[in-house]
Amino acid sequence: MSNLKTLQAQFEEYKSRGLTLNMERGQPSDSNFDLSLPILSAVNETNYITDSGVDIRNYPGGVLGLREAREMFCEQLNVSADEVMLGNNSSLELMSRFLTWALLNGVKGSASGWVSQSPKLIVAVPGYDRHFLLAKALGFELVTVDMTPSGPDMDAVEALVKQDASIKGIYFVPTYSNPTGDTLSEAFARRLITIDAAAADFTIFADDAYSVHHLEDNPSPAPNLLAIAKETGHAERVILFGSTSKVTFASGGIGLAGMSTDNIGYWSRAMSAQTIGPNKAEQWRHVLFLRNYPGGIGGLMRAHAAILKPKFDRVQEVLNRELGNLDLATWTQPRGGYFVSLDTNRPVASRVVELAKQAGLALTPTGATYPDGIDPDNKNIRLAPTRPPIEEIEPAMEIVACCIKLASAEADAAGN
Ligand SMILES: Cc1ncc(COP(=O)(O)O)c(C=O)c1O
Repeated sequence: MSNLKTLQAQFEEYKSRGLTLNMERGQPSDSNFDLSLPILSAVNETNYITDSGVDIRNYPGGVLGLREAREMFCEQLNVSADEVMLGNNSSLELMSRFLTWALLNGVKGSASGWVSQSPKLIVAVPGYDRHFLLAKALGFELVTVDMTPSGPDMDAVEALVKQDASIKGIYFVPTYSNPTGDTLSEAFARRLITIDAAAADFTIFADDAYSVHHLEDNPSPAPNLLAIAKETGHAERVILFGSTSKVTFASGGIGLAGMSTDNIGYWSRAMSAQTIGPNKAEQWRHVLFLRNYPGGIGGLMRAHAAILKPKFDRVQEVLNRELGNLDLATWTQPRGGYFVSLDTNRPVASRVVELAKQAGLALTPTGATYPDGIDPDNKNIRLAPTRPPIEEIEPAMEIVACCIKLASAEADAAGN
């Protein structure tokens, strides 16, 4: 039997198992959520006054969020309590408010809003589909650079930013990027922050969604971007974002924005025009819950890692076993975050996703990691091992490997 026929037979065997597996969703598992269940009863009829005397039932409390919550969550963004602003629900909502305001009124120091300047943002690819969706829906033109193991390709970023004043910023993930898991290096961080930009108000929108989501005991997180920005005289250039979505409950917690105190002044005026303040009840119950959690946020994140790390390990084991010695694909080995990024050597990613679906495995649609849903090389597949139970990871990854082998053999047979 030819190699193609053998692979087709193997694939048919997987199909006949009638599995229903899903590695599409970058969501925590129910076991992860269970760690935070006490948050649901952390606030009750007896404890609605905060330590500093704020009654969470009434308006006063401030547009930046409760002091106690700012003190607790500032560490997640590596900033001080005075340098963090809290938002509702999630980071995407905050990012959307910042980008919208920048379009209408500019960032601190802008001569005018960006909307009339045909604004562009640099994004790193492969990247996060919701960044692309949000920025494009608001009217930004996206300019792509490659993601490298040290962060966005800085040679490309420098060349672009230097000569084009309509490039108003870069929007990317500094720690354990979605989907590659790559983390910004110190050298790249310094080049980015001190970049010679044609736009005087060039801004670094750094979505540090996975800043505390380490899988290993000795993490090497991204450098402290705000500290470098302050040290090099570019304090206003950096705005950091994060949330509690993958700390406690997804999309049901607190958004975070970190920035210099001058920027806090500017952006709190922007927020004050839109809201009296973010949800204090949510902040207070997060504070009460995490104060009591052994080891605080760090302890909770270690408990998350204990659930997640075996799943990421299983992904690597199966990929190494099935594809390790074949010249068919390369993949990342993240030390944190939520994803593994796989590139097929041949342009067969969409075929792999289609075959996997036939075999009962849902994968992230090809192209989702690129603006407009188009992967120009048809090679990238985002693997999301966090949500499925551990026992489903091996069969799911075996299907991925089988489909890569089959799709590659088909391409070879067709002369592609
Ligand atoms: C890089 C990145 N940013 C933001 C989010 C969503 O965060 P939030 O729930 O805070 O809006 C995700 C979710 O997958 C993500 O991967």
